[in-house]
Amino acid sequence: MMSPIQECLINKNTTNKPIWIMRQAGRYLPEFRKIRKVNSNFINLCLNKNLSSEITLQPLKRFELDAAIIFSDILMVPLGLTQKVVFKKNFGPMLGPINIKKISKIDEIDFIKTLLPIYKTIENVKKNNLLIKKDLIGFVGAPWTLLVYMINKISPKKKLKKNFYQDKYLINRLLEILDKFLKIHIDQQIKSGATIIQIFDSWAGLLKEKDLPNYVYIPTLNLVNYIKSKNIPAICFPRKIKNYKNFCEIVKPDAINIDYDVDPKTILKNIQIPVQGGMDPKILLTNKETLKKETIKYLEIFKDHPYIFNLGHGILPETSPGMVKYLVKIVKEYK
Ligand code: CP3
Repeated sequence: MMSPIQECLINKNTTNKPIWIMRQAGRYLPEFRKIRKVNSNFINLCLNKNLSSEITLQPLKRFELDAAIIFSDILMVPLGLTQKVVFKKNFGPMLGPINIKKISKIDEIDFIKTLLPIYKTIENVKKNNLLIKKDLIGFVGAPWTLLVYMINKISPKKKLKKNFYQDKYLINRLLEILDKFLKIHIDQQIKSGATIIQIFDSWAGLLKEKDLPNYVYIPTLNLVNYIKSKNIPAICFPRKIKNYKNFCEIVKPDAINIDYDVDPKTILKNIQIPVQGGMDPKILLTNKETLKKETIKYLEIFKDHPYIFNLGHGILPETSPGMVKYLVKIVKEYK
């Protein structure tokens, strides 16, 4: 028996609308905040297999979600490559200087050793009864988005540092290294029990059209083909890319996660592969009536299309868990 999400991705089933939520294990949950409060180092929390397993399962204990997504972060890969990564409160991630000689010397064994707790977390979670007939989603940051963090050192918000593109040798070398180690990270997650891989390209929208092939299409296609070769579905989220149609035609993922700036009706018209997400996470901060209206809007538009309900970006920390409960109920009761 296939899971509801696999039914959608592989059999292109349109009658059930499965649901999971980006950042579903996170700060909007009081049980997460309780653990976080006594674990001020976010990286150490991601590398604590018992707590990471518990956090991964927290949303599934509360809500009827169709998948768990492993509690980790896309920046664990730069960390595995020996770049310093810290999360500063009310600021976000801060990365250390890049030593390309040192990074070039990292071997597979050292990298896996650093990230081993993540793979152990996947093995742990996989055994839990809450995962029966459900998916366990592993993920990576796309090469472009990781390059942005590794060179820019902080979230770029709206634009990159002035000299971002200056060192072409560094950029090309990092893209090669990322391709190799992201494949290792994907492989380890699959071997440990991940049943789907999502690729987060959160900063795809910062690129000019002419730079998309080099930084987004080609590097992402390499990863998608790698994931497909393992018989695992790949979901891509090239956030704010604007032209999702071109992306899908070139990269051919098993599903595409859309953001909330694109018109879902245009997506329906232009895209044949299964679609995921789209609703603005801010809708969850309004009221039940608006939430119902907006949720039904997406469900109606994708009524005859394979569609996985999700948001257009991660759930906001201010969200009330009661609203999430209501959202899941609407999706589950929709016929
Ligand atoms: O979706 C999930 O529930 C799985 C876990 C997950 C996290 N981060 C946990 C997390 C996933 C899939 C990510 C991906 C991620 N991490 C992305 C891609 C998606 C996106 O948001 O665009 C990016 C860009 C990152 C890097 C990152 N990690 C940022 C920008 C932040 C926010 C920093 C802040 O202070 O708000 C994080 C931190 C982070 N990652 C949190 C969680 C639950 C919050 C950490 C906390 O408790 O302070």
